[in-house]
Parts: sequence; C-alpha cells; structure tokens
Amino acid sequence: MQFDQVLSPASPQAHAISLLFVYMLVIAAIILTVVAGLVVYIVIRYRGRPGDAEPRQISGNRTLEIIWTAIPLAIVTSLVVFTIHTMRVVDPAAGRRKPDLVIIAHQWWWEIHYPGSGVVTANEVHMPVGEHWLVQVESADVIHDFWVPRLGRKIDAIPGHPNHIWLQVDVPDTYLGSCAEYCGAGHAWMRIRVIAQTPEAFAAWEKQQLAIPPPPATSEAVAGEKLFLDHTCANCHTIAGTPAHGTIGPDLTHLAGRETLAAGALTNTPDNLARWLRDPDAVKPGAHMPNLDLSSGQIKELVAYLEGLK
Ligand code: CUA
Repeated sequence: MQFDQVLSPASPQAHAISLLFVYMLVIAAIILTVVAGLVVYIVIRYRGRPGDAEPRQISGNRTLEIIWTAIPLAIVTSLVVFTIHTMRVVDPAAGRRKPDLVIIAHQWWWEIHYPGSGVVTANEVHMPVGEHWLVQVESADVIHDFWVPRLGRKIDAIPGHPNHIWLQVDVPDTYLGSCAEYCGAGHAWMRIRVIAQTPEAFAAWEKQQLAIPPPPATSEAVAGEKLFLDHTCANCHTIAGTPAHGTIGPDLTHLAGRETLAAGALTNTPDNLARWLRDPDAVKPGAHMPNLDLSSGQIKELVAYLEGLK
C-alpha cells in the first residue's frame, strides 16, 4: 500500500520529496548503466586470448583522474543543493506560530486536538483543503512515528519532546497513514487517516464535533448509557455531556461519525463494534482495552448507545 502511495504525492511537501526521490533514482540508474555497461564491454573487448602477449603497462593518467573526481563531485553537489531546497519546502521555519493541530500518539491509537476550536477526536484527522497547518506531534508513552505517505515525510512522536510537521492537502479525499516506528504489539493496527474536505464541509464537521450529542433515543440506548457510566468504560473514555471524563482511551463523544474503530482495525459498523466490545484482544492483539466479559444483552445496549453518538 505505502510504496505506490509514496509515488502519488498529494501535497506540496510530498511533491518536493517525490521529485528529489525521482532525481536520485534517475542519477543512480544512469551510473548503474554506465558502470555495468563498461564492465561488460571491457570484459568482452579486452579479454585474454590464447597466445596474447603481456599487455602494455600503464601507471597514472591525470586526465582520467580529473574526470573521475569532477563528475562525482558535481553529482554530489547537485544532490546537496537539491536536498537543502527540498528540506526548506518541506519544513519551513514555524517561528512563533502556534500549532493548528496537536496529535498525541498512544499505544495504539492517535489522540487529535484542534487547539483553535477545542475539538478532540481520535484516529481520523479532518482538515480543510488548501490550508498549510503546523502540526505538533507528541507521545503519551513510547516512540511512535506519524506517516501519511501521500502527504509528506515521517515525523517521530517522542515522549517529552514535541516535534513539528507541516500538513497541507490540495484535493479532497481520504489519505491513509500508519505508525511507522515499531511501538509494541499493536503497532500494525495503529492506523491514521487524514480526511481532507472543502472548507465548508470542514466547518460543518467542526461545528458538529463541538455539539453535545443528543441524549439516547431508545430504551436500549438509555440502558447502554447507564452501563457505560456505571461500568468501567467511563474511567478511560470521555463522552461530552456526561460524567464520563476518562482520558486513557479515545474520546468517544462523536464515535458514530467515525469511519473506523480501534485505530483502523475495523470499519465502524454496529456488528464490528459488538465484536470489539466482546473481545478487543481478538480484534487487535495486545489492545489495552480490557475484555469486560459483557453479556450479549449488555453489548447490544452499549452498541445502541455508542452508535447513536453522532
Ligand atoms: Cu505506534 Cu508503531
């Protein structure tokens, strides 16, 4: 998945990196062709034949020495200049700018904050197309790495050391990424998606995220809410408008509006949510969400409540 994505850049940063990659690839291909071609030619043309006399012995050739020093020097110089240019495009100085987005990596999911509006979500970054956002990347536990190949470079999430990366998307679409630094059992299921929207669609999403979700509508969902608050769920998760303020796991205020569950391990459907609640470890080995030994009835009630959190 990721290799073809590296070659279809969708942001100015990713374009710059892709261009540098192609430039290096072409130069390397030319060198390989010339060197391998010369070796084959020389092996055939000057091979020893029966009865050949000792060939003429040569020592030192100033012209050749100058050529094989000057050409590599020119190649390396061009690579240095091109690389510095690319670094400037990808990582322009942020100055005193405050981050537009804060992403905190956890084992094994992503916490997402919008400092401007106060929106908090998980695993799915919504952003408007055309904006150049400064993203602060942090970690709550071990070293992770944020990477959405079509949008640019990787950036490590290091405990106690906030890093910064610029994000910009030009075309509305969903861009897939994942954690790119081995971080434990759930590393492979630490996916992130960037959902780039028109500014109007983004503004509508942001407004909806700030709203308190409507109270549960059915008796099943009411029972689910009670279960959520009485059981241990509320110790780890937050749902705005309720006493649930846990911060160990993802904020679930608008869970029903998300495309996936468990950091991309499942698409967000009632059946999949039930699977996840029944046995998180079976879906995502190593998951920190415990198996609460819920009955089928309890799972149905929780699903009815959680899938109503629009
Ligand atoms: Cu987080 Cu790998």
